[in-house]
Amino acid sequence: MASTNVLFPWKDAYSVGIPRIDTQHKGLIALINELHAAMTEGRARTAMAPVMDELADYTARHFAYEESLLRQNGYSALAEHQELHRKLTAQALELRDKLRAGKLTVTIETMQFLKNWLANHILSADIAYSRELHGKATGGIAAPRGEHAGAAR
Ligand SMILES: [Fe+2]
Ligand SMILES: [Fe+2]
Repeated sequence: MASTNVLFPWKDAYSVGIPRIDTQHKGLIALINELHAAMTEGRARTAMAPVMDELADYTARHFAYEESLLRQNGYSALAEHQELHRKLTAQALELRDKLRAGKLTVTIETMQFLKNWLANHILSADIAYSRELHGKATGGIAAPRGEHAGAAR
């Protein structure tokens, strides 16, 4: 079955109950799965680099959008969340730069790292803001205004 080869299937447990955010998380998961497929098919590093580039770019757009949404909704642990994002971004950029420089071979360990890199953050930190925002939302959760309103597909 093809589905057993998917490294990182979406699970309902990942849902933060905010459709725009879930869509972005699914986009990130899809890129990680694409990288995994490229690895299992033995595709060249040069074919993987653009996927890793897109993962790094999409991560930056998603984090900016998410932080903007958290700010807009007065999330109590925004600073801590931003710090987690900063560390995750640094890790993604490091992988991207190593891959580009030919200093990284994408292995199953790399892929497990990336899966955990995202899944653990969603399941702990993102679910935590979801609980708080849904707990205090009376008129619904406000979308970010201004520069991030249209960020990330
Ligand atoms: Fe987050
Ligand atoms: Fe997120």
